[in-house]
Amino acid sequence: MQLPEHGANPHNLYATLGIEQPIRLLDFSENVNPAGPPDSITKMWPSLRDLLTAYPNPKGEPFLSAAADYHGISTDYLFAGNGAAELLALLAERYRAKRAIVVHPTFFEYEATLLAKGVEIVRVIASESDGFKLPLEAILEAMTSASVLYLCTPNNPTGIMPERTDLNVIIRHGAEVGCEVVLDEAFIDFVDESLSFIAELKKNPHVIVVRSMTKMYAIPGIRLGYIAANPSVIRGIKALAPHWNVNGLAAQIGAVCLQEEQYREQAIQYSNREREKMTRFLIDNACNVTNSVTNFISFTLSSSRDSNKLYKDMLTRGIVLRHSQNFRGMDGRWLRIGMKNDASMNILKEELLQWFAEN
Ligand SMILES: Cc1ncc(COP(=O)(O)O)c(C=O)c1O
Repeated sequence: MQLPEHGANPHNLYATLGIEQPIRLLDFSENVNPAGPPDSITKMWPSLRDLLTAYPNPKGEPFLSAAADYHGISTDYLFAGNGAAELLALLAERYRAKRAIVVHPTFFEYEATLLAKGVEIVRVIASESDGFKLPLEAILEAMTSASVLYLCTPNNPTGIMPERTDLNVIIRHGAEVGCEVVLDEAFIDFVDESLSFIAELKKNPHVIVVRSMTKMYAIPGIRLGYIAANPSVIRGIKALAPHWNVNGLAAQIGAVCLQEEQYREQAIQYSNREREKMTRFLIDNACNVTNSVTNFISFTLSSSRDSNKLYKDMLTRGIVLRHSQNFRGMDGRWLRIGMKNDASMNILKEELLQWFAEN
């Protein structure tokens, strides 16, 4: 069964599998903030119309300066892109025909973008039996002969945030052996901004941080993200990007989103609360759950139950979970749940309870 490579777009999933789509459809396979975009975006909506008729600012202003203020750094350290996905594709060119380490299970796009540039991939697999903890020794060893290490912090699909002490050891080692470190902080907004490595970039010119505006601000359709890195890295990425790569609406929306401190705080609290409730529910029903700190979790069933059957049965009931067939080290045995609103979480629990009773 060939499943789509990413979550979201459930209509596509049903069409691919030839399953009739139920009228009630709840999509837990994507993991954007269930609160929806901040109210300020809805209010400013009519004013965005005027931006349609003007070419956007080529640097992605006013977003770029807003991001610089948010992180307390200069705009020389930042480059805005059409979503983190575009930035990962641009970044991969930096490692063309070199060697990169990818620590699995993790986000599919690292390998996809690197392989497209002829990069040799060294795979380090975090072990399921060790709770998918970072395999530190294996990573340090692989770094001695690689140009770059990609890490997702916190990691998609496990939601696990590597220990800061481990990250510090890895980053110090990278400086010693000449291995750059790319940190994908797409989900760090749901954890704690003070854990971001952006504040450490001046001292660590070999570290590159990728950020997405999609997840926290629930704006996947507008496409906006940024890279934070040493100015020479930024200049290299900028040279590869098309002119006007960030549209004017995205640049305006992103600048407003970054001012939304209270919205962010509420989202973190909500995500923590729902994740903890769902984790408890799954553990109470004999599941194994990742130690996530963000707005999604992954879980697997006890050995007597079949995750593939659960996945398909849930689709027929209009519940879309994220499969793990293309997450190396999970290989279909795990399923990921993005936190949604209260009502949806309750329906999910009811449907799961029924399935557990029948299987
Ligand atoms: C870990 C991670 N990084 C980056 C991205 C891409 O985000 P964007 O929507 O900004 O392209 C995703 C999207 O799912 C993701 O899960």
